[in-house]
Amino acid sequence: MPLNIIVGAQWGDEGKGRITDLLAQNAQITARYSGGDNAGHTVTVGRQIFKLNLLPSGLIHPGVIGVLGNGMVVNPARLLEEIDRLAQAGLNVSPERIKISASAHLITPAHLALDRAEEARRAGAGARIGTTGRGIGPAYTDKIARHGVRLEAMLDPEHLGDRIADEIHSDNEILEGVYHRPSLDLAAIAAEYADYARRLASYIIDTSLYLHQKLKEGAVVLAEGAQGALLDVDHGTYPFVTSSSPTSGGALVGLGVGPQFVGRVVGVAKAFQTRVGEGPFPTEVFGAEADRLRGTGENPWDEFGTVTRRPRRCGWLDLVLLRYAIRVNGVTELALTKMDVLSGLSTVKLCTAYTSGDKTHAELPLGPADLSPFRPVYEAIPGWSEDVSGVRTLAALPAAARHYVQRIQELTGVPVSLISVGPERSQIVFAE
Ligand code: GDP
Ligand code: IMO
Ligand code: MG
Repeated sequence: MPLNIIVGAQWGDEGKGRITDLLAQNAQITARYSGGDNAGHTVTVGRQIFKLNLLPSGLIHPGVIGVLGNGMVVNPARLLEEIDRLAQAGLNVSPERIKISASAHLITPAHLALDRAEEARRAGAGARIGTTGRGIGPAYTDKIARHGVRLEAMLDPEHLGDRIADEIHSDNEILEGVYHRPSLDLAAIAAEYADYARRLASYIIDTSLYLHQKLKEGAVVLAEGAQGALLDVDHGTYPFVTSSSPTSGGALVGLGVGPQFVGRVVGVAKAFQTRVGEGPFPTEVFGAEADRLRGTGENPWDEFGTVTRRPRRCGWLDLVLLRYAIRVNGVTELALTKMDVLSGLSTVKLCTAYTSGDKTHAELPLGPADLSPFRPVYEAIPGWSEDVSGVRTLAALPAAARHYVQRIQELTGVPVSLISVGPERSQIVFAE
């Protein structure tokens, strides 16, 4: 009866959607537990590419049920668009297959406006975070301030309108008074949300109770993380983080299930490192080296944001931060993605430690919030020229690629159980 948790072990976009889709072959349920449509998860099956923002990636398997947990913040307009998209692709999107927590929080147009206004203010002060502009921070702020609107309010569409109008009214005071922005139309938004409620009400249940019953019956549940450990509001590179808990502890809080069910904790890490948005990145590279890792944008997997299309910052795999992510998540195994992208490099580098002054650090002395004192120490590893995208067994990987994986295992103390060599479902090496 395991709850297997899939977490991003870096700054997001590690390939969580791709790994969730893979592991969903042997699961009955996949559940998102944190974040909202700031997430962009890609699943490639044959020539079809699915981009998921709110719905769990396991839904691409027809027999799998998808849950949106209480830890999420949900923009109903975007959710309905996504449900319609999957329906057009021929997938069953009925309430029998998709279950949304009554305790998840709603994102309103005011949250989007406040996100942008606050980001513009920070930019003026030279302190931009580079958010996705999806209203995530303001929605979680309202949740913690205890006046957010939860999805349970959608079960009563007539009253929802009043509740939303109250919220927008007070948000308008902030938008106008603090940020000097135009106010939003209360009546139009209230009517719009009453419409969304009519369409979504039948999906809304107590997902904690549902998951608990299924886990007790022996179902395999995959908890699909969004973002990554280094974007976690507690454990990430604060304040350059998102406003939720993408780490494995967040899966328990964000689904309302206890730790007795937890089986595997799969940390997904790219074979190198990327970040989109502002914040520290000790192993970042620039110029031609970065262009090589990022790609030109011609391939669907090149390093340009799924949500915002921003070019991602690129660098070498940072094992100091990976060991940290393994620790705060209790990662039991790693899934290493994008090994194919490193093919053709004469040398690949692993950051094994940091230096500051005359000190060497194998671990972060004080967490990742301030990484400015540190310089990376690299181990240069001979690269491999072979295209590995067709490789399906460990033995068939070039010796240099196997050595690279071996070093990652040795330097993290965690087995690499999955090696992804391409975006497509079948492009995987089961290493154990
Ligand atoms: P997520 O947010 O963690 O789910 O990751 P994204 O979907 O935002 O970004 C990962 C990108 O890499 C997507 O375009 C995936 O299709 C792609 N991808 C995943 N694994 C691999 C891999 O092993 N090789 C290549 N070339 N692309 C991959
Ligand atoms: P997935 O699930 C990469 C980043 C943003 C910004 C910071 C805060 O696809 O891995 P927010 O809008 O959440 O307030 O932005 O977090 N960010 C992500 N980066 N992948 C994501 O999701 C991200 N979700 C948020 O770029 O730096
Ligand atoms: Mg992504």
